[in-house]
Amino acid sequence: MHEHNAAVYPGSYDPLTNGHIDIIERGLKIFGKIVVAVLKNPAKTYLFDLDERQEMLRSVFGGEKRIEVDHFEGLLVDYLKRRKIATVVRGLRAISDFEIEFQMALMNRKIEPRIETIFFVPSESYSFLSSKLVKEIYMLGGEVGSMVPGIVDAKLKEKFRRR
Ligand code: PNS
Repeated sequence: MHEHNAAVYPGSYDPLTNGHIDIIERGLKIFGKIVVAVLKNPAKTYLFDLDERQEMLRSVFGGEKRIEVDHFEGLLVDYLKRRKIATVVRGLRAISDFEIEFQMALMNRKIEPRIETIFFVPSESYSFLSSKLVKEIYMLGGEVGSMVPGIVDAKLKEKFRRR
């Protein structure tokens, strides 16, 4: 695993939120390149399919040379090995994230000891934000325009045919 200056930021991105963008921007201060890796888990039902999730990311980060949008299926560590990248980036919003993130980081390390996980703390204004809540608020008729990029807001509108 060689590419020292790159990190993978894996996630479901269903959909991308301003919280993810905050983490990516922080990641770019430390890493030369961030590979945003969208998970395709056949066992999971997503609101947006893999193409839509990637498309929204690409439309937000399209012009950024240091950001690559990719996807993976299966184990994250196998994807990292394929990409020859040894660093995982994740965001830690609150103590409630800690337990699951700690477990994932240690499990990934157990499977592949050469992998390190780096956590970034998002702006406190995003500490409450999650893709799950964005979807719930939107489905129940709330506004999410301040929580997601414009393209995601538009895609949500399209999906639910709301004006
Ligand atoms: O955005 P999410 O849903 O919090 O991201 C979770 C993700 C994609 C990082 C995690 O589910 C993952 O890495 N899945 C890939 C399968 C895998 O490697 N599982 C073992 C992790 S210990």
